[in-house]
Amino acid sequence: MTRIVRTVAELREQVRAWKAAGEQVGLIPTMGALHEGHLSLVRLAQTRVKRTVASVFVNPKQFAPHEDFDAYPRGEARDAELLDSAGCDLLFAPNAAEMYPQGFSTTINLTGVSEPLEGAARPQFFGGVATVVTKLLIQAEPDIALFGEKDYQQLQVIRRVTRDLDLPVEIVGAPTARAEDGLALSSRNAYLSPQERAAAVALPNAMKAAIAAVQAGERVEMAEAAGKAALEAAGFRQVDYFDFRDADDLSRLGPDALHGSKARLLAAAWLGKTRLIDNMAA
Ligand code: PAF
Repeated sequence: MTRIVRTVAELREQVRAWKAAGEQVGLIPTMGALHEGHLSLVRLAQTRVKRTVASVFVNPKQFAPHEDFDAYPRGEARDAELLDSAGCDLLFAPNAAEMYPQGFSTTINLTGVSEPLEGAARPQFFGGVATVVTKLLIQAEPDIALFGEKDYQQLQVIRRVTRDLDLPVEIVGAPTARAEDGLALSSRNAYLSPQERAAAVALPNAMKAAIAAVQAGERVEMAEAAGKAALEAAGFRQVDYFDFRDADDLSRLGPDALHGSKARLLAAAWLGKTRLIDNMAA
């Protein structure tokens, strides 16, 4: 059975006992509402280390007041069952007071790779993510920590933070898990009505079409404009971005093709009240 602990002290005691026995530990930070994408991270961790710890904490600091913190799907019993079936050893499920005790005053301040795209659309987001992930890495002292490429910019920000702060952990990125029709799995897909869910496949389809067009010689900005138009035609009400970027630092690519550089197409768009994000290697 997956053991559940709620305090940093219990978490550290267990992890330190494993390490004292020579067992390496992998941490999978999550906000719960677990799906196949999260479970694939647990399984990937199991190929690398003996012990796996998943954290479930809906982090208030990464939501702006107008965002979906209250509506965010929660269900610890189901999450615990799924982790158990995946063979996860420990679930760390702290409450807000354990993570942010009275008087909490410290936030990680970021520049660089956190600034465009999600950082521009959600200015408080990455500071909140970096703060909670840094805390989790210090609390759990894992050998490796795993994150999905679905949140590609988040993964790049976390790589940067761990390098900048000399956190002794290896950050492992894992491919996005997708539904059969190609939609990236996300806890927020639960917000979609059946009609919206059917329309949502336009997002990965528009991205694949844009990548194919650019690879065939189309100008980047033309492919971006066509992608946005395809999403609007499919019923998306707003496209926050649909951008080809440098895969490492997420800086803008020039207008003509991909220059043989490592490129990534990243997109965020609203379908009704749901904001979907996705990204693909280009
Ligand atoms: O990707 C997520 O679910 C969250 O941003 C994370 C990394 C668990 C931090 O709260």
